[in-house]
Amino acid sequence: MSTVAGSHATAAGPLVYDPYAYGIHEDPYPTYARLRDEAPLYHNDERGFWALSRHTDVLAAFRDSDRFSNAEGVSIDPAASGPHAHRTMSFLAMDPPQHGRMRGLVSRAFTPRRVAAMEDRIRSLTVHHLTTKLLAHAWYWAWANPDERCKAFGQPARTADWVEETLRYDTSSQMLARVTKVDVALHGRVVPAGDRVLLLAGSANRDPRAFADPDRFDLDRDREAGIASFGVGRHFCLGASLARLEARVVLEELVARVHDYDIDAAGACRVHSVNVRGFETLPTTVVPR
Ligand code: HEM
Repeated sequence: MSTVAGSHATAAGPLVYDPYAYGIHEDPYPTYARLRDEAPLYHNDERGFWALSRHTDVLAAFRDSDRFSNAEGVSIDPAASGPHAHRTMSFLAMDPPQHGRMRGLVSRAFTPRRVAAMEDRIRSLTVHHLTTKLLAHAWYWAWANPDERCKAFGQPARTADWVEETLRYDTSSQMLARVTKVDVALHGRVVPAGDRVLLLAGSANRDPRAFADPDRFDLDRDREAGIASFGVGRHFCLGASLARLEARVVLEELVARVHDYDIDAAGACRVHSVNVRGFETLPTTVVPR
């Protein structure tokens, strides 16, 4: 089996990817690298799912809603998956034609003009919260990559690039589930109709086949291949431009107020969720400007 330069795959032990494992919540990236190299179509026998990890495969499956269905939701959490998933997840858990009808109605609230018009309100809310309390949301965005903090604070004018690279480097949406509508042949095997397939967006974003030196946080990098963080195709995140705007505004206002900060790494605690990556607690001492 060939290994692609830039991945940090190691041949240590049997390859197991379990999205419930705390080790995966701490650092999924070495496992993703092994999946891409050793098992691009992976099957977890115990939990009964397949996983796609290469950039090309993940993006192709996102686009292929004829064969990869959202009708049972996008999570492997039993409480949020199954034919009734649309009751909690709305049109994210629908296929065409219902999906298109619902999305068409809601998308009117997310036109570029409507989103741009929200900036002033988002900024005043951000300033209010920053000056009264430091929002956990803000800290997540600013310090998803603690080692890279100087990139934001050294170059405040580059906050938009910083947001973009954070979305690639360490996305909060690590994976989305689909169910196959028909038998699907992939990497020499057949995924039978009705099986669950996880699309590992967090892995696609770190695939050296798509991004040069993908484990490096690089504001200047070429993201031409496309990040998987907001999905792709007909379910592409409707709030993507709003999320980018919010993150940029929060970061701009933080950089304007914070001179330096220190994270108590020993006190940090990850969110233990199957698909959301982030911190539940991140004790931080701040030196204001
Ligand atoms: C950084 C923040 C966000 C991330 C990483 C994110 C990620 C995603 C992803 C990956 C999908 C596609 C799911 C799939 O294909 O299975 C999605 C869909 C969606 N997102 Fe977001 N999202 C974010 C923020 C938002 C915000 C702020 C809103 C709205 C205010 C929003 C609304 C939606 C909706 C409505 C869909 C369903 C679209 C459809 O099924 O057609 N998202 N999001």
